[in-house]
Amino acid sequence: MIKLTNDEIEKYQKLYESLYNDPRILRMKEFSQHRGSSPYVHSLKVARRAYWIAKRWWFKVNFEDLLIGAMLHDYCLYTWRGKSGRFKFAARHPKTSCKNAERDFKINDCIKNIILSHMWPLNFFCFHKSKEAHVVALADDIIAIEEGLCSIKWKGKRKDKYFSKIFCLENPKKYKIKKGHVLNLHDSPYKAIENGYKIIEMRLNEKKRQCLKAGDYIQFKNRTTEETMIVQIISVSRYSSFDELYNNCDKIELGYESNQEANPNDMGQYYSKEKMAKYGVLAIKIRKI
Ligand SMILES: [Fe+2]
Ligand SMILES: [Fe+2]
Repeated sequence: MIKLTNDEIEKYQKLYESLYNDPRILRMKEFSQHRGSSPYVHSLKVARRAYWIAKRWWFKVNFEDLLIGAMLHDYCLYTWRGKSGRFKFAARHPKTSCKNAERDFKINDCIKNIILSHMWPLNFFCFHKSKEAHVVALADDIIAIEEGLCSIKWKGKRKDKYFSKIFCLENPKKYKIKKGHVLNLHDSPYKAIENGYKIIEMRLNEKKRQCLKAGDYIQFKNRTTEETMIVQIISVSRYSSFDELYNNCDKIELGYESNQEANPNDMGQYYSKEKMAKYGVLAIKIRKI
């Protein structure tokens, strides 16, 4: 394991943060690529995994080039399903990603090669010319396999109950696997949670939700864009009805705007009256991580 100093770790974490908060890179959220994840989330995972591989296996690499190359390796800004077939996409998107990256960022030859060669041998003449390129390609393969396995339906249940914390470069072992719950969300509540003003998610207290407890993690999945985000549960309160829940919770925290009227009947579009009466309801207070 390569020992990095605290200053170096802080420097790379800051670089990683500046990359995943960069508005140009955030555009990758709008597209869908590998199964069940956007190129944005995929690239975050690849960057973190590449960093870990380089450290763990003594690859003396330039970590800055490695992280930037990993974050930009799929910066093609289109979705393969709509534009061309899977094979064509696999062979062509490195070139498009490199073009886009050159247009939007100042990148050196090492980063260009990381992007261009990450699908080798599909684009046969784009060889890896550096250790950084080898490491990113390996990390990309590992993450693509993980994402493929996570999206397999197994006896009707998706096996994606486990997910990684992807916003921290360090302590990958500590954060490697978090057992959590996966909940689907419509686009507007997903964005309200993502923007930080909705911090209470409401659900029926069905059997499958009765195991939710403070400290657990939830992976919310946007039904429209298939983006995902991880939150941690702060508390779970149980109520007999949405009327009682609305009386006890702040409407802003439930996701309403200050000029909107908070009406418990709004939940009627999601759940039938019979189910609400049978199971009762949950107010799940969460925080983004
Ligand atoms: Fe790729
Ligand atoms: Fe990739």
